[in-house]
Amino acid sequence: MKNTALILGASGQDGAYLAKHLLQNGYRVLGAVRRSASPRAARLQYLGIERDVELFECELLEPTNVIKLVEKTRPREIYNFAAQSFVAASFEQPLFTLDVNTLGAVRILEAIRAVDPAIRFYQASTSEMFGSGDDGAQTETTPFRPRSPYGVSKLAAHAMAVNYRESYGMFCVSGILFNHESPLRGREFVTRRVTLGLAEVKHGRRDCLALGNLDAQRDWGFAGDYVEGMWRMLQQERAGDYVLATGTATRVRDFVALAAGALGFKIAWEGTGRDERGIDRNTGRAVIRVDPALFRPAEVHALRGSPAKAAAELGWAHRVEVPELAAMMAAEDDRRVRDGLQDF
Ligand SMILES: NC(=O)c1ccc[n+]([C@@H]2O[C@H](COP(=O)([O-])OP(=O)(O)OC[C@H]3O[C@@H](n4cnc5c(N)ncnc54)[C@H](OP(=O)(O)O)[C@@H]3O)[C@@H](O)[C@H]2O)c1
Repeated sequence: MKNTALILGASGQDGAYLAKHLLQNGYRVLGAVRRSASPRAARLQYLGIERDVELFECELLEPTNVIKLVEKTRPREIYNFAAQSFVAASFEQPLFTLDVNTLGAVRILEAIRAVDPAIRFYQASTSEMFGSGDDGAQTETTPFRPRSPYGVSKLAAHAMAVNYRESYGMFCVSGILFNHESPLRGREFVTRRVTLGLAEVKHGRRDCLALGNLDAQRDWGFAGDYVEGMWRMLQQERAGDYVLATGTATRVRDFVALAAGALGFKIAWEGTGRDERGIDRNTGRAVIRVDPALFRPAEVHALRGSPAKAAAELGWAHRVEVPELAAMMAAEDDRRVRDGLQDF
């Protein structure tokens, strides 16, 4: 019989890539999505798998939705991706963020405990739980000091998953993932802001792209690589927590230059701080400017992870490097803007 996996948050970036990975591995894939007016299967459609994933409605704020879904589907594995996942929005909506991200995870854990404690559970934890690191790479044992309501909400959910593992012997795994991107990334995230914004400048849809902190550094990988690591975590004999990262941090400014290069711009940086601008040397026009309104109340300046444990125990390694990732995303946004295609 086929293994069955339930993905909560199946309409998001990771949900789509994981669904594809599981289908390729012979799984029956069930996707939970919330009621929404916007197209829920757009990312699954992009990957050509919308007909292969069985969709169910589930609102994580409703405890009965969650328990009924687990009861009805009784999967072998549950992946919890459902979240208010945008750090900046969490400063504006802290209560909502904690409700969905923390209590939502606990609702799922309680449903598993009540229905079938043998169900394997994956919690989508995040490098934002670390806050700004010191110079070294962050590992599974680095202390957490989150600097946003999002980070706090995910840390509390992480601690609950560890607790259910230790208290009830449940197979709860927490993947502490550093940023992973793709052409399916939401347009509010900085990498997509950059690739989509620059594609719009290229095609004359806007004059200039405004960005926040150009000096922020992130450890960016490709989502398609990361979902394989998540799946491997749930196939282990014993449950544990794992960092997935590339081990290399890149400045926003450098990601911009890579994406801009892929779109045919030649960026020269002029000015400093709030007055810094990215000038396209082909035309002499400013195509990037800094907008202080996009700075966060508390910035996480640098994040870089060590995937050593995942490499040793899961045999996992990333494949796509940042230049390839930036080029992949830029090419896709170039095509979308040029052809007026649907976006996420
Ligand atoms: N991508 C990263 O770099 C990264 C890094 C570390 C951790 N994470 C975490 O990994 C998970 C997956 O990331 P992602 O990039 O795929 O995020 P995403 O694209 O924002 O997907 C989030 C998913 O959660 C769903 N959702 C939100 N609120 C919900 C609610 N109240 N009830 C039910 N579903 C709800 C969304 O549904 P709608 O489509 O209806 O909005 C969407 O399917 C998230 O939990 C994120 O916080 C991501």
